[in-house]
Amino acid sequence: MTAPKDPHASAPGSSGAALWSGRFDSAPDPAAFDFGRSFPFDRRLFEDDVAGSLAWAQALADAGVLGPDDHRAIAGGLQAILDEGRRNPAFVDGPDEDVHSFVERSLVERAGDAGRRLHTGRSRNEQVSLDLRLYVRRTIPGLQAALEELIRACASQAAGAGEALMPSYTHLRRAQPVLVAHFFLAHAAALRRDHQRFAQASGEADALPLGSGAIAGTSYAVDTAALARRLGFSRVVLNSIDASSDRDFVAAFLHAAALTMVHVSRLAEDLVIFTGEEHGFFELADESATGSSMMPQKKNPDPLELVRGKSGRVVGRLTGWLTTMKGLPSGYNKDLQEDKEAVFDAEDTVRVSLAATTAVVAKLALVESRAAAAASGLLLATDVADYLVSRGVPFRRAHEIVGTLVRRLLADGREFGDLTRDEWRAASEHFGDDAAAAATPIASVRAKRTPQSTAPAAVRAALDECRQWLARQEARNG
Ligand code: ARG
Repeated sequence: MTAPKDPHASAPGSSGAALWSGRFDSAPDPAAFDFGRSFPFDRRLFEDDVAGSLAWAQALADAGVLGPDDHRAIAGGLQAILDEGRRNPAFVDGPDEDVHSFVERSLVERAGDAGRRLHTGRSRNEQVSLDLRLYVRRTIPGLQAALEELIRACASQAAGAGEALMPSYTHLRRAQPVLVAHFFLAHAAALRRDHQRFAQASGEADALPLGSGAIAGTSYAVDTAALARRLGFSRVVLNSIDASSDRDFVAAFLHAAALTMVHVSRLAEDLVIFTGEEHGFFELADESATGSSMMPQKKNPDPLELVRGKSGRVVGRLTGWLTTMKGLPSGYNKDLQEDKEAVFDAEDTVRVSLAATTAVVAKLALVESRAAAAASGLLLATDVADYLVSRGVPFRRAHEIVGTLVRRLLADGREFGDLTRDEWRAASEHFGDDAAAAATPIASVRAKRTPQSTAPAAVRAALDECRQWLARQEARNG
């Protein structure tokens, strides 16, 4: 698509001219016009623009600004345009400056002068805000559904893992044994916050900007409350100046998208590590891996790496957008046009990343023996210290005793399970014959007492709760 050779070649308002041609003697420089065009990407707002225009025409008719015949011609024309655009997406194309100009031009082609009355009392400044609010609000449920799929895959892995054990890490050094299920539910917990954050972004977009005009409001008595209801908004913006430049809802959407990517990136990173030769807790399905053109043995986690890589681009969309907004004077500024590509790109990236991650997680195979073996050994030191605490030793003292014991075991290349009764006793008189039994991975997880812990009963309850949450989302999705 290229700019029209001369957007002012024909009379103002007729096909081929920009919406604002009347004011100018000469056509804009083609490079400048092309640079400013948003139609190549804002065509994605086509349905929202028509929906908003249908509602606006109704509001003008209700206010007595449009006569019944004009209103009928406009509504019929817009409906025909919508039908045509749905039937044939290639129809939504042309030399127009933006989707708003395209819809108006197409309407005038069908409805003549009636179509020329549609823009009465309305500005593209509020129209573009309306369209993007509608778009964001209808896009979010699909992204939430994609999040639900990934959460479901994590819950399935958690269920399949039963009481299988793996080490947890802090500083990427072995910390304490946990259930494999607990690990998957950890990622599910973060993804559920993203789900909620998208709901909040939708709430932020939930305000009707129409009635704001270009910046000062509109001189026609449109019933904005009725208009809001018709378009599915629960409220109307507070201030027309603010409304013309407010894109906080875009920032909220991008923030939700960026954090979603941060979370899938972290999950991806965990899986890159845990499926590698050094850990081997999980095996990637062949379908989720790629080979090397040179090294025949390689099984690379490309999809996970790409998800991790793409997180940078969505974080960039958020920081880029905040940077665009920060220097703007009050009122609409053309800079705001940058909002759409940020939203569309973040949306597309989140969608494909969630789908790829879900596919990998769903097909991941637990290598129980490798994971369990890594969950045993000196990472039971805290449990040994807790044993002493249960025998009345102050924790700080217990820490020191066990630290000394760990130092000795490390030097000898042994583990707690290798200690003889006498060696336990030598370390502390408080170690009884049951000390060795307390220092096992399964005893360690069973000893946990809080609902958010890795205690098997707590993890079962958490998995149950997660599945109930998924069922509630399913019921809501219908
Ligand atoms: N394409 C424009 C945008 O995306 C639409 C609003 C144009 N308004 C204006 N006064 N130039 O922001």
